[in-house]
Amino acid sequence: MERVGILTGGGDCPGLNAVIRAVTRRSLDRGCAVIGIEEGWRGLLENRAVELGRREISGILPRGGTIIGTSRTNPYKVEDGVERTLETFRSLGLGALVAVGGEDTLGVAARLYEDHGFPVVGVPKTIDNDLSATDYTFGFDTAVSVATEAIDRLHTTAESHNRVMVVEVMGRHTGWIAVMSGIAGGADVVLIPEQPVTVEEACEEIRRRHERGKDFSIVVVSEGYELTYASGESQVVARGEGVDQFGHLRLGGVGELLAREIEERTGFETRVTVLGHVQRGGTPTPRDRILATRFGLKAADLAFAGRFGTMAALRGDAIVEVPLAEAVAELKTVPPEWFETARAFFG
Ligand code: F6P
Repeated sequence: MERVGILTGGGDCPGLNAVIRAVTRRSLDRGCAVIGIEEGWRGLLENRAVELGRREISGILPRGGTIIGTSRTNPYKVEDGVERTLETFRSLGLGALVAVGGEDTLGVAARLYEDHGFPVVGVPKTIDNDLSATDYTFGFDTAVSVATEAIDRLHTTAESHNRVMVVEVMGRHTGWIAVMSGIAGGADVVLIPEQPVTVEEACEEIRRRHERGKDFSIVVVSEGYELTYASGESQVVARGEGVDQFGHLRLGGVGELLAREIEERTGFETRVTVLGHVQRGGTPTPRDRILATRFGLKAADLAFAGRFGTMAALRGDAIVEVPLAEAVAELKTVPPEWFETARAFFG
């Protein structure tokens, strides 16, 4: 193989540049040129690409974001999108593509492989950690670190002012970031989509805690938690009605509604902090840099070995090859035992 392409799709994520660096270094060592496709699948639709050499990847290991850009473009939702994608790939003279992304980007990769035998290899990226077939995705550790630090800092204000502090974290339809940062930060209540504790139960935990002499509480809520009531009623909270090209709502805002409910029902002063994109920004943790680097090397090796339709994955401590289709078959949700670990410290 003389030329390999790489693209990064979906939300930016700490560690993307570490993958780009690893794929490029391994490929250059094998005498293969690397072409960075700009802004995810959009780059193949619009024929936007840039050659990556040693100079381009120098110093990018600790940098957040992605030097080749990203987008949430879905070629299957654009007229002639798949034909244009395949045509650009051919015209760039590429022998393989490394697609770095979450369920959406890798879903497109898996479909292109199935429909057209497209020579693609995947790398699992997402701060949400919701991809099947891998124990962890890179970016998740950084997001949990940021959220944990925020919870630590909010503790001091909560204690000083006798307040309930609600922290809204990302994670889309899974509660991985909420549960892990909740455990690490010592949250008093954690609300996630998979285990919808009701608003009434959450208020009861806070009241009980205050009765025991604690006059502050920290509540971590995942953006995908549906505001759930004892009556059985529940409400997804999103910003606007629209969905993106992959059918996703823009989640966010549940923290604000929850804080209002808590204040009204308990009478305790309650404030909300929405961490938002801070969780995705900035430098990756060492753990994410290492995982992303190992994934990048493995993906390049898979591409050179012609193992298309596969993805690099973490199983235990080993980096292994798994079918792409397996990775996108279903969302990896938080298992009950992880939630129980967080729940042991409620109230
Ligand atoms: O998938 C990563 C993620 O950060 C989710 O946690 C969040 O729901 C979504 O992306 C936000 O997307 P955007 O950056 O497009 O607002």
